[in-house]
Amino acid sequence: AFHRAPRAIHYSFDGPFGRYDNQQLQRGFQVYKEVCSACHSMRLVAFRDLGGIGFSKPEVKALAKGWAIETPSLNPDTGEPATRKSLPSDTIPSPYPNEIAARAANNNALPPDMSLLAKAREGGPAYIASLVTGYRDVPPALKTAFPDFTTPPGLHFNPYFANLNIAMPPPLVADDQVAYADGTKATREQMAEDVSAFLMWAAEPKMEDRKRTGVAVVAYLILATLLAFGAYRNIWHGKT
Ligand code: HEM
Repeated sequence: AFHRAPRAIHYSFDGPFGRYDNQQLQRGFQVYKEVCSACHSMRLVAFRDLGGIGFSKPEVKALAKGWAIETPSLNPDTGEPATRKSLPSDTIPSPYPNEIAARAANNNALPPDMSLLAKAREGGPAYIASLVTGYRDVPPALKTAFPDFTTPPGLHFNPYFANLNIAMPPPLVADDQVAYADGTKATREQMAEDVSAFLMWAAEPKMEDRKRTGVAVVAYLILATLLAFGAYRNIWHGKT
């Protein structure tokens, strides 16, 4: 009873005629880049895929260039993993060299790869937006009902997370945490909705095509039904 369902959030891509809003997706990418990518990778999304939300080729190149990626070889001088600049064909890497390092930095939890996260969790983008804005104090009613309930150090209470205590610290802590390139006011709610819309696009970049096909199929079926009905009336005319 203390676990909450995602909030009802309206997205431009809701419904059979829904479309992605590239402006919003670009803002969402900015939030991912400046906040979430400190912990979460997107291993199924290549930089060049970002052309799909309206970035030009030079913009994609510049974006990739700013993202260091680890190479399989070690730096011959230090023995440390060597890095190089990403190319548009590289996918968005994890900030950690491996799972052990990722867990060590996150109270033994693993920040999941974000490529398909919006489809992997019930509630989709609304869940993600609710979760990242959902941190709060433990409600007194929960303490009364379950006196043994605690939020251990290193975890954070969040009623949208299935087991109520999550290892992710609140990622969106203040308004204007990012300075949006398009001048939109970056409230926490705005950032949460934008980044979750971007993650939905990442998980399902062909959603618009799928919906367009669905609309065409239904329209065709309606037409075919009307024709069949007309044919039936014609063939059986006067033969009751
Ligand atoms: C898990 C979103 C930033 C660390 C998650 C989950 C989501 C999410 C949706 C999955 C929850 C689930 O399993 O149902 C985001 C968004 C971010 C962001 C949208 C940026 C706005 C960060 C940052 C860190 C982080 C900056 C590290 C400081 C983690 C960890 C988990 C997690 C450790 C696993 C939690 C657990 O299993 O207890 N995040 N995250 N996240 N995130 Fe983030």
